[in-house]
Amino acid sequence: MAARGFLLAGAVVLMGAAAPPPGAASCSGCHGAANPDGIPPIAGRPVADLAAALNGFRDGSRKATLMDRLAKGFTPAELQAIAAWWSEQP
Ligand code: HEC
Repeated sequence: MAARGFLLAGAVVLMGAAAPPPGAASCSGCHGAANPDGIPPIAGRPVADLAAALNGFRDGSRKATLMDRLAKGFTPAELQAIAAWWSEQP
């Protein structure tokens, strides 16, 4: 399977982006390009804004319908990594 590993590595290089940290890929279902429910986009936004929102959801200081429950499933360090990754997405 050496050839397969090589192809995967090539695809990551072509995309010009690091692999998403744990949990980050799960966000795109709601925060993807087509967001029919008016959910705010998160790709390419400043990392500080995203991290502040996520930490606010996690500690309950920011009002939410569901992001509070979701954010509580991650540690602050994981949320920081997720925020950093999304800030670099186009
Ligand atoms: C099931 C759909 C859903 C998923 C999955 C989801 N979100 Fe959200 N997100 C929302 C909704 C809805 C809001 C608006 C706040 C609320 O009602 O909870 C929101 C708000 C946010 C905001 C605040 C944006 C702003 O400008 O106010 C951020 C940042 C965010 N989400 C990041 C994430 C990240 C990172 C993930 C993945 C770990 C994620 N979301 C996964 C639905 C989702």
